[in-house]
Amino acid sequence: MIKFLFFVIFCVAFSVCSEICTHTPSAYQNYLGTKTPYRLVGNNTFGKIEYPGCTASKLWMIVRHGTRNPSRSFIESMKHRLPTIRDFILKNNPISSDVLHNSDLSSFQKWESKLSKKDAKKLTVEGENEMINIAERMQSRFPTLLRNVYSNTSFKFKHTDSQRTKKSAYYFAVGLFGKNTAKSVWYPEPLKKDPILRFYKLCTKWRNEVKDNPDSLVHRKEFETSPIMIKIVENVNQRLKLPANTLNFDDLFLMYQTCSFETAWKMNTKSPWCSAFSVNDMKALEYYEDLKYYWIDGYGYDLNHKQACVVLNEIDSFLSSKNQYPKSTVYFTHSGTLLKLISHLELYKEDKPLTRHNFNDKVDNRLFRVSRVGCFATNLALVLFDCQGVPKVLTLHQERIVKLPSCPNSDLCEYSKFIEHYKGVTDTCNFDELCSNNNEEEKSTSDED
Ligand SMILES: *[C@@H]1O[C@H](CO)[C@@H](O)[C@H](O)[C@H]1NC(C)=O
Ligand SMILES: *[C@@H]1O[C@H](CO)[C@@H](O)[C@H](O)[C@H]1NC(C)=O
Repeated sequence: MIKFLFFVIFCVAFSVCSEICTHTPSAYQNYLGTKTPYRLVGNNTFGKIEYPGCTASKLWMIVRHGTRNPSRSFIESMKHRLPTIRDFILKNNPISSDVLHNSDLSSFQKWESKLSKKDAKKLTVEGENEMINIAERMQSRFPTLLRNVYSNTSFKFKHTDSQRTKKSAYYFAVGLFGKNTAKSVWYPEPLKKDPILRFYKLCTKWRNEVKDNPDSLVHRKEFETSPIMIKIVENVNQRLKLPANTLNFDDLFLMYQTCSFETAWKMNTKSPWCSAFSVNDMKALEYYEDLKYYWIDGYGYDLNHKQACVVLNEIDSFLSSKNQYPKSTVYFTHSGTLLKLISHLELYKEDKPLTRHNFNDKVDNRLFRVSRVGCFATNLALVLFDCQGVPKVLTLHQERIVKLPSCPNSDLCEYSKFIEHYKGVTDTCNFDELCSNNNEEEKSTSDED
């Protein structure tokens, strides 16, 4: 009887948590930026998607790699700075408080960074599962396009030149075909600078004028030293009972990102670093992140998304081709590609740009939030339907049906209308012209997505 009661209490507690943790907008897990795990974002239901009178005929999909490890430099900072912060916190919090519960204190006592530099950016187990699950659900939605039998002619898979996208492709194939078949899936040799999968690596003008131009991050930089952020740094020091100014902004950002990564890696364990922040602090740090992606990959500068016209051309040549095969194309790439393409399609467009000034207006009221639109395993799928001879396209982002601006009132969009909408851009899609910059020599930069 007692056991049973405990069981009931456990179930109630658990369902309350899973409710709060995933559905209440105030839960901290909703503000983890591009390090948000997909399980908090995607549509995790199964079931065929059908429209009367229409047959699914082709699928084009692009997927950001799943949850990964941090970069080398981040692993260094975790090892170098976080143990000191952990010890400050433990020294100043001998007993639990409203902020640091006993469970947080004991996680801090046990906490250490277990990653070494050779693990940098590798796909994690959570990332493997994200891919398997997305593949299984997409297969249940479109069983004729994503059959469970592999054929080199029906499927076209491609990944960039990185461990995390290669493994993502493999685990996606595991989800579709099972482990054994997945091993024999064929992929073209990955290119260092793939003109479709990572077109922006070839865009010299974008690199010089946007990516490597300090002006692009001016809103982010100034938000960092704004009164809002100064207050947050103060709050966190106070909340953790630390002498004033013990932690600075860089410390907070390191703790925030560690909270994000650790939340992504472990579904059932709370990272103690998350406890340092109130939900409002998290929202401001998320906005600080958005100020980067909005200006580097999103609507901030036209060139960011204009260059993605090459992907739209590729989509068009695949979907409008008379060839029946391949039936499905699935690409594995990075957040930089997904965000630029999503902006090119005019999804999640803000009426006013995100700036350092409009945090208060935008905090709970914006469409472009990387926690939602650019999390780990972010994906976009275009599915072509033949509706009694009329080709129509269905768009899914994060496995949810989205309506495109070309067809604001219906799921399915007549293909001609869809392509016509972007015509101005596709017709003038001269990548070399858009991206050439004669002033500067080509130099290579590290990738950050
Ligand atoms: C799969 O098809 C590609 C061409 O699309 C070809 O180059 C490759 O050799 C094929 N692989 C196998 C294993 O048949
Ligand atoms: C989520 O997936 C299910 C199953 O395929 C589908 O019926 C449903 O429409 C999807 N939800 C959204 C919001 O698109």
